[in-house]
Amino acid sequence: MRAFERPFCGSLRAGDIGKRVELVGWVRRRRDLGGLVFVDLRDREGWVQVLFADALRTQAERLSGEDVIRVVGTVAARSGGNVNPDMPTGEVEVAAEELELLRAAETPPFQVEDRDNASEELRLRHRVLDLRRPEMMRNLALRHRVTFEIRQHFHEHGFLDVETPILTRSTPEGARDFLVPSRLTPGSFYALPQSPQLFKQLLQVAGVGRYMQIARCFRDEDLRADRQPEFTQVDVEASFIEEEDLYALIEGLFARIFPLAGIQPPATFQRLTYRDAMERFGSDRPDLRFALELIELAPAAATCAFEPFRLAAASGRVKGLVIPGGAAFSRKQLDELSELVKPFGAPGVVWMRRTTEGYGSPVKKLLGDEGIAAFLQAAAVAEGDLLVVVGGAPKVVFAALGALRIEMAKRGGLITPGAHAFGWVTDFPLFEWDDETARWYATHHAFTSPNPEDVPFLESDPGRVRARAYDVIMDGVELGGGSIRIHDAELQRRVFRVMGIDDETARRKFGFLLEAFRFGAPPHGGIALGLDRLIMLMAGRDSIRDVIAFPKTTAGNCLLTDAPNVVDASQLDELKLSLKS
Ligand code: AMO
Repeated sequence: MRAFERPFCGSLRAGDIGKRVELVGWVRRRRDLGGLVFVDLRDREGWVQVLFADALRTQAERLSGEDVIRVVGTVAARSGGNVNPDMPTGEVEVAAEELELLRAAETPPFQVEDRDNASEELRLRHRVLDLRRPEMMRNLALRHRVTFEIRQHFHEHGFLDVETPILTRSTPEGARDFLVPSRLTPGSFYALPQSPQLFKQLLQVAGVGRYMQIARCFRDEDLRADRQPEFTQVDVEASFIEEEDLYALIEGLFARIFPLAGIQPPATFQRLTYRDAMERFGSDRPDLRFALELIELAPAAATCAFEPFRLAAASGRVKGLVIPGGAAFSRKQLDELSELVKPFGAPGVVWMRRTTEGYGSPVKKLLGDEGIAAFLQAAAVAEGDLLVVVGGAPKVVFAALGALRIEMAKRGGLITPGAHAFGWVTDFPLFEWDDETARWYATHHAFTSPNPEDVPFLESDPGRVRARAYDVIMDGVELGGGSIRIHDAELQRRVFRVMGIDDETARRKFGFLLEAFRFGAPPHGGIALGLDRLIMLMAGRDSIRDVIAFPKTTAGNCLLTDAPNVVDASQLDELKLSLKS
């Protein structure tokens, strides 16, 4: 039998009964029972039970976990009581006629399929064994099927897949660059691309018109469960388009790929502006699977007897959240609410409730029953529920209540299992003010077009200028983001100047793009989806490490290859580099 005609162990079904097959794979488990040897033979697609009797028995008795074998045998039906409805191959077994040990395995450092008996560190160090777990193989296979469909989708819409350089110059996504020293030009460095942003815009000026790439991106930033130093984007850019063209293209893509994971997204996604997202949910990537909206409490706070709230109402924000059933929280649970918001810069929360015993709140002495009642009324709090109030700088109030909202939904079981919510967040502000450096930064990136209605305020009131930028979100995760770009050199210069980038600096950093714009730049825009996050959500995981074959730890290390690592002094010499001790 030719290698690629062999069936996979995990793909045998009742329809194969009677077939003579050749199987290759890894010994998952061996059991010796009543004069027979049963081996679960595993490959990429799962595993099947193989039966060794008579002469083959003695040979099979010597097999142990992870040995690599080849078996020839006949697929047979399992007898009634032995059918295992819990496994895909559970109706069949293979009666072996030939057995060849291709390679014996040493005892592995952990049992491949017992995820819980090995730490993530040990599994990452022995990633090869970890990847043998059927679940990991399913994730890799899902990723393959999804990228296959993605290419198909864009191909059918007239997109060209164009590769862009990895050794390049700094790109404008705002994270730290990874640098690669140049041997041929000592003292000079390439930067690894944070995204193909500038190249995909250049390709539009070149006339490619519709570009896509499944592109590796590199960002030296602090890592989290959904962030890796190198990750993959589905990168898209097109000319002569508007926001609506892009929304339809991506919604069409999702309608095509999500069913591969049994998820049916709506035909069109709900839209909300950045402002609405912040005001109602305290986040620019709100989880829309449940309501639990923030409530405006500035009017109640402005006249109350609690000074911090009065101050916040005047110079910041006071908002609240109603936690269903929260009136019954224990003292410990109430204290925990304050602990939950502290990481976001809030000093704590003030809770208020009304129970059969009357009004309750840590500020009751100050506000009196009437004062508490005013807040409860403003928030339309029903008996049995709890009002949580946070006052302070807008950023802090949104972040604190946004995080509390998610935590309370999780604890209160407000998220229906299997439910998903997709959305577009639009109208992001073009700039963000940074107190530390006392300057404006681009919220998305410097090439994002301002909303034409707001262009007159570019210099006079940068904070009110909305961007033609959008994010696509799912279940509280930012899946992707993009914008319609600036394609006019003069407008680009104005935007740079607001950010404190003078014409000379702009020319030095992005001169090649500005130069290209001089020779006929079409209107264009695009988006990039985080492929790792997309697959993570489809696979129902909560870390992108589970859907990347060889990921790095949160400290940025590859435990398998031990990268990053020291290099020989001769390599440094060649690069004319020396290390500070
Ligand atoms: P942005 O920086 O928003 O946009 O990135 C797009 C998407 O990439 C994913 N992503 C990441 N995934 C894993 N690890 C990371 N460190 C990481 N950083 C980002 C997110 C994010 O939504 N050039 C623009 C796109 C454009 O304007 O067309 C860009 O890169 O899912």
